[in-house]
Amino acid sequence: MTGFPGAAGYVPDTDDLDAVRAAATRCHGCDLYRDATQTVFGDGAAHASTVLVGEQPGNDEDLDGHPFVGPAGHLLDRALDDIGIDRRSLYLTNAVKHFRFVRHGKRRIHQQPRRTEIVACAPWLHIELDLIAPELVICLGAIATRAVLGPQAKVTDLRGRTVELADFTAGITVHPSAVLRAPDRKQAYTAFVDDLSAIFEAR
Ligand code: URA
Ligand code: SF4
Repeated sequence: MTGFPGAAGYVPDTDDLDAVRAAATRCHGCDLYRDATQTVFGDGAAHASTVLVGEQPGNDEDLDGHPFVGPAGHLLDRALDDIGIDRRSLYLTNAVKHFRFVRHGKRRIHQQPRRTEIVACAPWLHIELDLIAPELVICLGAIATRAVLGPQAKVTDLRGRTVELADFTAGITVHPSAVLRAPDRKQAYTAFVDDLSAIFEAR
């Protein structure tokens, strides 16, 4: 146990997404708020029919306050552009709302969130999905896939596919950072675009 209560007690009882976003700036539901600069809440069209879920803010997002503004976000923008999807029509968020990192000299190196932090932060993702009520939720990478589909769900089994859930269709693909790190980046990028395009077509 971390001794932290999770986000549930910080989530206000309201259907106003902006009020929820404001409340999230004060969340101390797990210890990640201590070292991060700020809460990076989801952003985009309030009634988007598609929500994209990433892992957690990275270095750039932590400083900027908005999701997917760094290198992974640029790659995602390019992929969406390639399949004719306008980012402004979507809502983008993360499974975990604070940046987890270790310091190496001046650099802050991303660390995967722990299971306890994903669980602690889940109430924010749940209320975002409740209020936006999208038809399609696209999970980018393992952390998002587990946060949306449960701890057993595996990206390697599910990528490029959709799964019908009670409230929406979930689509699964890799994280754009994994494309940036891939040994054959060109091939990884093509596979990522193919996944996204298959997911949007399956809807
Ligand atoms: N990676 C993510 O998962 N989310 C962001 O917002 C940025 C990078
Ligand atoms: Fe709250 Fe999530 Fe930040 Fe933890 S990571 S403090 S649960 S917003």
